[in-house]
Amino acid sequence: MENLSWIQKHDEIFFKNSFSKEDIVYLLSLEGQEEIEFLRQRAYDIATKESGEKVSLRGIIEFSNICSRNCCYCGIRKDAKSVKRYLLSREEIIEIAQKAAVSGYGSVVLQSGERNDEEFIKYVIDVVKGIKDRTKSEKLPEGLGITLSVGEQTEKTYKKFYDAGAHRYLLRIETSDKKFFSKIHPPDQKYDNRLNCLRMLKKIGYQVGTGVMIGIPGQTIDQLASDVLFFRDIDADMIGMGPYIVSQSSLMSSKGMMEKKSLLLLSLKMISATRVVLKDVNIASTTALEAISEDGREKGILFGANVVMPNLSPVDVKSDYLLYEGKPGMEEGSDEYNTDLIQRIRLSGREILFDDWGDSKHFKRRKCLNII
Ligand code: 5AD
Repeated sequence: MENLSWIQKHDEIFFKNSFSKEDIVYLLSLEGQEEIEFLRQRAYDIATKESGEKVSLRGIIEFSNICSRNCCYCGIRKDAKSVKRYLLSREEIIEIAQKAAVSGYGSVVLQSGERNDEEFIKYVIDVVKGIKDRTKSEKLPEGLGITLSVGEQTEKTYKKFYDAGAHRYLLRIETSDKKFFSKIHPPDQKYDNRLNCLRMLKKIGYQVGTGVMIGIPGQTIDQLASDVLFFRDIDADMIGMGPYIVSQSSLMSSKGMMEKKSLLLLSLKMISATRVVLKDVNIASTTALEAISEDGREKGILFGANVVMPNLSPVDVKSDYLLYEGKPGMEEGSDEYNTDLIQRIRLSGREILFDDWGDSKHFKRRKCLNII
């Protein structure tokens, strides 16, 4: 009898088109193996139907760890004195991108600490233009797709980056709960500004990605359910989420941390719930998943993600971009590690989409409907 009511409820909730916060809390609270498997399978089916059978690649280039911000959770925050700071040269970044394009990556993500000075802005513009100019080929007539992830900037700056050739932008909200946001950020960082940045990015025409950290001490299931609704309401095209992991250089202690197994499961359920609710967005299976479980990124794909972001940063700077402890592949050359990662994704049953920007279906649909 109990079983019957579970199946009825599962049919009612999993196949909905419109979800309430309570529905999402229900999904995130599923505990039984069979129930979680239903959720995973539903999310996987939607991912393959809506975003295609193949997993998209984004080569991530962490081009600088110099940062003007002091986010409490982050290992490369401005005041983390033990961090050796670096900025890759323009030529170095372009060469990495060229090599990526030749190897079949359709797009790259350029990520760095946040800086708002003119020199940095000009630098990013030059790098974006350089990559665009020098990665055009028969396979990629417009060059590599470029996603930027360089934090909060002014609308004018976002526009300049866009005009230079970047067409996607990642800016995590970290948590959609305004009060909680102010607990994990210093007072100079405002929730409203972050939100406004996301709106500006959309207005300019970017495909916009956002996301949250999962399992931050003090965070509730209710807040995570609201995060999913936030992604839906802001009409995000891409989502990147991962478990919160302690960093020695951060300001937050490990008190109240979830143990790894539950943290992994909650993160995977967040991916599935987001897929079930948002359907046609790109969802990344993030590196942080692999930091807490060897096959975390394959699991992310099996729970409904459709993007992986192999790290293309040079091995000599990789370990200086330690946002959190346990980041995988720090000692190995990027090539070896990524070949293995791609192989692991394949073994988990999915092919890889090469030589394609891998734009989000959600964005394409918005464009067709002339909503943008
Ligand atoms: N644990 C997990 N994710 C982190 N990030 C920063 N610090 C941590 C941490 N300690 C994530 C943030 C940021 C992204 C670049 O990395 O969500 O937006």
